[in-house]
This record gives sequence, C-alpha cells and structure tokens, in this order.
Amino acid sequence: MNTTSKKKRSVVIVIASIAATGGLLFGFDTGVISGAIPFLQDYFQLTDSQVENVTALGLIGAVVGALITGRITDYLGRKKVILASAFIFATGAVWTGMAPTVNQLMISRFYLGLAIGVSSFAVPLYISEIAPTKIRGTLVSMFQLLITVGILSAYLSDKAFANNSNLESWRPMLLVGVVPAVILFVGMFFLPETPRWLMSKGREEEGRKVLGRTEDPEFIDVVINEMKRDIDIDKSQASWKEIFKPWLRNALIIAAGIMFFQQFVGINTVIYYSPKIFLAAGFEGAEAAIAASVIVGVVNVFFTIISLFVIDKLGRRKLYFIGVSGITIALVCMGLGFMIPGAGKWFLVISMLVYIAFFAISLGPLGWLIITEVFPTRVRGLGSSIGSLSNWGFNTLVVWTFYKMASAIGNAKEVVIPEGKVLSDVCPSCVGSVFWIFAAVALIGLVWGYFYIPETKGVTLEEIEEHWRQGGKPRKLKMK
Ligand code: BGC
Repeated sequence: MNTTSKKKRSVVIVIASIAATGGLLFGFDTGVISGAIPFLQDYFQLTDSQVENVTALGLIGAVVGALITGRITDYLGRKKVILASAFIFATGAVWTGMAPTVNQLMISRFYLGLAIGVSSFAVPLYISEIAPTKIRGTLVSMFQLLITVGILSAYLSDKAFANNSNLESWRPMLLVGVVPAVILFVGMFFLPETPRWLMSKGREEEGRKVLGRTEDPEFIDVVINEMKRDIDIDKSQASWKEIFKPWLRNALIIAAGIMFFQQFVGINTVIYYSPKIFLAAGFEGAEAAIAASVIVGVVNVFFTIISLFVIDKLGRRKLYFIGVSGITIALVCMGLGFMIPGAGKWFLVISMLVYIAFFAISLGPLGWLIITEVFPTRVRGLGSSIGSLSNWGFNTLVVWTFYKMASAIGNAKEVVIPEGKVLSDVCPSCVGSVFWIFAAVALIGLVWGYFYIPETKGVTLEEIEEHWRQGGKPRKLKMK
C-alpha cells in the first residue's frame, strides 16, 4: 500500500471509530439498567411490574426510534440523524440520572431508547457508506465491537458505583453515559456526510470530494459510475413503496431473517441474565455471579476484535456457518450443563463462554453489517431501519419469553415451586430445555443461511443492488 492509500485508510478508520461511539452508547445504555435496578427499586419503592416498565420502556423507545427515523435518514442525510441521536443520548443520560420521580424516569428511559433505536441503524449505515469496499466489513464491525465495549463498561460502571449504603448509587451509573454521548456529538460534527447519500441528492461535487478522501483509488471511478447509473434508474421510481417491490424481497428477507436468528439463538438471555443463570447453575453468592458476567463481557469484546480481522478475509458466509455451527453445539452443551446434575458448573461456564465467542465472531457483527449492505441507496435508510426494528422487536420477544418458556416447561413437568424459591432453584433442567429450543433455532438458521446469506465481501454496494435487479439469488452473489 502506498503512502496516500495508507493516509486514506487512517482517515476512514478515524471516521469510523468516531461514528462507532454510537455503538458504545447502544451497549452501555441497554446494559447499564440491570445493575441500577436494585437501587432504583429501593429508592423509589418500585413494585416488580414498575421495574419491568422502566426496562421495557427503553426497549420500546428503541423500536419507535428505528420505526420512525428510517425515511428521515434518506431525506435529511445520515450525519444529521446521528447528530440528533447524540443530542438525545447526552440529554437523556442527564435526565435519567437526575430523574426526580419514577414517572420522569420512565419517560426519560423511553426518550433515551429513541436514540438507541436510531443510532443502531444510522451508525452502521453511515460507516458502510463511507467505508472503502475492501474493508467495509471490518469497519462496520467496529460498531459491534463498541457495542460489546459498551456492555462491558456498563457492567463495570455498575460495579464501580454500586454502594449498598447509598440508595442513589443508580444516579452516577446512568449519568456517566453523557461522556460518550458528548464525544459522539462533537466528533460527528466534524465528519462528512456519506458520498452515496450526497450523490443520491445530486450533490456530485461534494460526493466526489468525500470519496476522494476515503475510497481506494482503483474503486473511485467504478463506484462513481455505478452510483450514477443506479441514481438514474432510481429517479423514475417511487420511494418507500420501492422497498416492498418483488426485486427487493430477498433483501427484506435477509435483513429481517439475520436479525431473527441473531436474537432467537438467545444471546440476550445470556447478556442480560448471566448472573441469574450462573446462580441457577450452582454458583454461590451474587458477587461470584457478577464476576462471572464480567468474564462473559470480556470474552465478548475479545472475540469481536478477532472478527474485525477475519470478516473481510474469510467473508460473510464462511463466518456465518462457522459461527452458527459453534453456537448450536455450545447451546446443546449449555442445555446439558443444566440437565445433568453431575455435569458441573464449570462445564456450563465454559459452554457459555464458547457460545459467546462464536456469537461474537459471527451473528453479532454480521447482523448489523448485512442490513446496511443489501438495500439500494435510495431506500437504504428505510431498509436498515427495518432490520434494526426487527432486531429490537425480536430482542424484546426473546427476553420477555425466556422465563415464561422455562416455567411452561416446569408446568408441563408438574414442578411445584415452594415458597421463597424460584423455578431455576427447583428445576434447572427447565431453564436448560430453553437452551435446546435455541439450539433448534440455530440449526434452522444454518439451513436458512445456506439459501439467504449473501457473500458481500469485496462487492461494491452498487454491484449488490445490480445483482437484485437482475433477479440474482442471494447465495450466488460474489466478488467479481
Ligand atoms: C446484538 C445485541 C447483543 C449484543 C451482544 C448485538 O449485535 O444486537 O442484542 O446484546 O450484540 O454483544
């Protein structure tokens, strides 16, 4: 690589890292609430259902955020929408941290949720459109990396500020979120709009300039010509209805499908409930269980870093199959860990870490990457927001049904829960069975992936669009 190319690489890496701070906020704000809840509950004297509302309102905010802003990113541009989300993140962190009443806490969590939903699709979208084709996978995966760093920071922040003699410990836990939000806001202010969005609005000169700073020289002309051609074709077509046209059906199935499998292999039951799962597996004391969750967080970050190095080399399909196969086996072992009394708690812990590792190299980054790759420029904002919306919808469904599924299995087995005990105390195998359900879903995901996961490595976003226009099958897409 010559010096100019190296300089360009550094510029885009800096751009992508700043934008990816949106991922850190996503991870932090979804993760931080778990450690804050015990304090909040005592401080405001909340009932369990009020606690559920505080948690759920954040997720509902994310669904609404993803739902209403897809089109706006196509109209106003990617940058303005991310700036707006950074503003909400910053003010939302202050508002939640200082909330005087429980009602304000709920409204402010919803408000913060909006930013989580918006940034979860606008940030990867921005990075994928600004990234040079050859390293697009790596750069978008930085978003996932920062999600995992955000989750880990949330665990650590919860640990650092938890003080049993101070019922207001939850305030600093939530307030620290303002720091990454300000970094995102200030950083984003200086970043350019994406060349693809500029070109689609007829601002060719500006688009060329940005592309000149970021894309590999060998791709600049190809990309510009392809963009122009696509824009010409797009001009004559209706906008939002476009996304439901038959030629984009596969893109929609891919975006919603990958998010379905990302969530229905049960990732967030491990991310949100790992302390509880560790206790159910026989670890004694909340502290040991929380420490075990920190290990989960660290493994998650570490293997996401590995994915950055391999995603543009091995490609999306290989990573998907390696990852989902590993996830399936690990889930079967996790189920066994709960089922067989003599299996030992370490067997369970190791299976869980293996599970996280395989998720972190595959479904984690691939979900957020692929939803930004499969749609044409004019509806990419809307398309990615549908992917993100599916993610939050499925996430809520899985987290909400996890214990319900376990108790349904308990009821079927006629397990009686004595006073003061919970289901996982008396029937760990009921919890274990749910992991087998997730394993079955992962197995179906392997078959689905064979037909629907496209190999987008080294393919320009315009070539992907062209492939759909010609009626190409997802699995037939590859680098020319
Ligand atoms: C998922 C989140 C999950 C996280 C774990 C993300 O890709 O969308 O739901 O909590 O990965 O690292």
